[in-house]
Amino acid sequence: MARTCLAVILAAGEGTRMNSTLPKVLHSVAGLPMVLHVMRVSQKAKCDTISIVTGKSAEKVDKIVKDENPSAMVFEQTQRLGTAHAVLAARQSIEAGYDDILVLFGDTPLLTPETLIKMRAELASGAAVIVLGFHADDPTGYGRLLQKDGKLRAIREERDASDVERQIKFCNGGIMGLSGEHALQLLDSIKNDNSKGEYYLTDIVEVANANDLPVKAIEAEETEVMGVNTREGLADVEAIWQQNTRRRMMEAGVSLQAPQTVFFHADTVVESDVNVEPNVVFGSGVVVRKGAKIRAFSHLEGATVGAGAEVGPFARLRPGTDLAENTKVGNFVEVKNAVLASGAKINHLTYVGDAEIGERANIGAGTITCNYDGANKHKTIIGAETFIGSNSALVAPVTIGDGAYVASGSVIVEDVPAQDLAIARGRQVNKAGRGRQIREENIRIKKERTKK
Ligand code: UD1
Ligand code: MG
Repeated sequence: MARTCLAVILAAGEGTRMNSTLPKVLHSVAGLPMVLHVMRVSQKAKCDTISIVTGKSAEKVDKIVKDENPSAMVFEQTQRLGTAHAVLAARQSIEAGYDDILVLFGDTPLLTPETLIKMRAELASGAAVIVLGFHADDPTGYGRLLQKDGKLRAIREERDASDVERQIKFCNGGIMGLSGEHALQLLDSIKNDNSKGEYYLTDIVEVANANDLPVKAIEAEETEVMGVNTREGLADVEAIWQQNTRRRMMEAGVSLQAPQTVFFHADTVVESDVNVEPNVVFGSGVVVRKGAKIRAFSHLEGATVGAGAEVGPFARLRPGTDLAENTKVGNFVEVKNAVLASGAKINHLTYVGDAEIGERANIGAGTITCNYDGANKHKTIIGAETFIGSNSALVAPVTIGDGAYVASGSVIVEDVPAQDLAIARGRQVNKAGRGRQIREENIRIKKERTKK
């Protein structure tokens, strides 16, 4: 039987240093609130239940957490009496009985599932408490891991540490694993006899040792346990997240010519042999299929780009865009809520919204689907192998049949039957010699004016 696991995520931080009305853990990294990063990591480490401990702005956190995972439990820590006290706010979920309990912080979004899986393996092989440590060049502010004979004896908070203890660079990352069997008894034994008068979760190490229970520390990279306290810290974490993701993408077969200029969202999916040129931004909900090309300065959001399709340079794909294989969306083209069938092309200066475009259709430069009447949105359907001449306005709702041809500069307000030609503009008139007359007259007027 697989071991069961509960993740308790502490998310009570007010984040006063963020200067924000938004609770700290709801600030986003890669477009996703930090607390959701931590939840997703817990899910990947096969945690069965997730409990979130919130503080004052509980309702806001509650909503986002439940939208992500309706079975997550949210507990409010009404008084901020320390990290052990915070964990015990989730007592009800701990009492339900799990083999493994992971205590995580909602403001450390760089944590990886691999690390949590390692911690769970230590619990499975008998540890009662497992601490995630890291080596810091500058350990100021962190709890120090006090080891003796290779064993973790205690964690000493900076403000309670002696000068000698402060020299130690092996620090507490804050993340901890507890064996479900002993967790409540150990947590209940923690006292608040320290300089801050708080119930420190870190004291669980000494309590477990006093009870002759096995305690261990494992090590992670410092960046993995980086916590966010300020907007600057948020930007630092974002930079590391993006860097990690670019590396992961390239390892998976995506080409990035200037990786540091490409920004991914937490949910971006890019398949192998995709080429992403410099300065491309991915918003939420983008999938790019094999061999597609995303050219420079494009912005994509809520869009699927089919295999071998080409987007940009300078293209904007908005939510609901679905490009089939081998389609083309070129420079200064905006596409919203529109499906392009295989081989369709929109090469330049166009807005296509609320539309269906058939196979191999060619949409000329400057075409606009007039989808909005000031109150409602309407649909434009463009058939297969149609040709829409440049600078045409297609006033929706309207349907252009398969193989139809729309003359340049048309304003199309009625459906065009398949295979027909539609011309909807004033007819051209050429007036013999009139061009020269106008020019001469203008020159005469100018001369008279300058004489005066
Ligand atoms: C904590 C650790 C320290 C570790 C550091 C890593 C303790 C006592 N100390 O210190 O050893 O090196 O993290 O970053 O655990 N929280 C609550 N309720 C409370 C108090 C805290 O929910 O009553 C939450 C905070 O919102 C935060 C987390 O617990 O997410 C850690 O609390 P914080 O005050 O930041 O502890 P540190 O001093 O950073
Ligand atoms: Mg902290």
